[in-house]
Amino acid sequence: MSKLWGGRFTKETDKLVEEFTASITFDKELANEDIEGSIAHVQMLGDCDIISTDDAKTIKEGLQKIQQKINKGEVEYLVEHEDIHMNIEKLLIDEIGAVGGKLHTGRSRNDQVATDMHLYLKKQTKSIIGLVNEVQKAIIEQAKGNINTILPGYTHLQRAQPVSFAHHLLAYFWMLERDKERLQDSLKRINWSPLGAGALAGTTFPIDRQQTASLLGFEKVYPNSMDAVSDRDFIVEFLSHASLIMTHISRLSEELVIWSSQEFQFIELDDAFCTGSSIMPQKKNPDVPELLRAKTGRVYGNLVGLLTVLKGLPLAYNKDMQEDKEGMFDTVATLDGSLRLLAPMIRTMTVNKDKMHQAVSQDFSNATDIADYLVTKGLPFRQAHEIIGKIVLYAINNQKFLLDLNIEEYQQFSPLFKPDIYEILQPKNVVGARNSQGGTGFEQVKNQLAFAEQFVD
Ligand code: ARG
Repeated sequence: MSKLWGGRFTKETDKLVEEFTASITFDKELANEDIEGSIAHVQMLGDCDIISTDDAKTIKEGLQKIQQKINKGEVEYLVEHEDIHMNIEKLLIDEIGAVGGKLHTGRSRNDQVATDMHLYLKKQTKSIIGLVNEVQKAIIEQAKGNINTILPGYTHLQRAQPVSFAHHLLAYFWMLERDKERLQDSLKRINWSPLGAGALAGTTFPIDRQQTASLLGFEKVYPNSMDAVSDRDFIVEFLSHASLIMTHISRLSEELVIWSSQEFQFIELDDAFCTGSSIMPQKKNPDVPELLRAKTGRVYGNLVGLLTVLKGLPLAYNKDMQEDKEGMFDTVATLDGSLRLLAPMIRTMTVNKDKMHQAVSQDFSNATDIADYLVTKGLPFRQAHEIIGKIVLYAINNQKFLLDLNIEEYQQFSPLFKPDIYEILQPKNVVGARNSQGGTGFEQVKNQLAFAEQFVD
């Protein structure tokens, strides 16, 4: 089997080396992008009179035929041809003859692979943005039905102050909104064309990089050929944004796992999103959020993996860079699968409003409100805090909650207490009163929902 680069060599490549260095087993994923890039390149070669327009036409049609064959699954890739670029070039030459060898004029696999990666990631980034948007819509939907649902808000996983469940859910909406914005912003940098950078130094042929860039939908061309072939920042950026998305998904998943436990029973995940135990018949396990939580690990791993590959590389292209692909494909697949599951899981979960309400009625999460009450009667907050601390201790010792103490008991601690304190202590009033901008007060949550809706489409 003769190599496309075989001229300089006197010996066959060692079989193990061939397998070790080949990337075709995974970079075949880039077939469409590779052909798209080649079609733009050959069009430009013809238009710039670098090859004849007849040859350009023949090559373009040959590439289109190969694309059809790939789509029909009729193509067999060979490890001997190392990667997707040379496999396709070989297929082209088999298809149209020696003229196919003109395709690689004024180009190198180094600018070719960089172009493929830009095209691929541009497409995937847009698709992920769409999927994040779907999760946001699911959150809005659940939030709308739960504006008046109250549950304990936690700090240190200790009950702190009651909040609207819609408010709690919408916190995740804004995390995802920032994620979406970051991905959107990264498109600016993905949108630079490396094509025409050659191996590293440009080319002797009078190519038109603007033309290939605009044929491929890129906004700009890399101004430095060495940077163009060795830049993988855009992939690092993607992996980093993906890591943060997974962090957010994982935090939400953790809450879903906790909330669906027997101890909380705040929500129930739909049967379609849970599995059973092979031994304990009573069990319904939240496998999906557990796996979402766990898959975060591989996405972080892919980020750290690529950063580590790049950190010691001299300019320009190094074979090390071939290791940029598997982690990226894996991250795209993991993110895609995770987001596709998360949206319907949120939509279909049942919210146990009674359990949530019970939880807030049986705790001290309204304690801040008694302090605020004394403050409105003129007491400095620090003194009020001290008094309420004593009341809470008294209640605990007497096995009562704050709503169970009678007015005489309250007045032992301060003469400022009047019977209107009981209204203030009702959980719905506790929540409703937090009407500061961005707070959990119902009016604020409604405003927030309306605002959030402007960010999804
Ligand atoms: N398969 C290679 C990669 O993914 C393509 C570029 C190869 N270039 C080279 N000079 N060997 O990075």
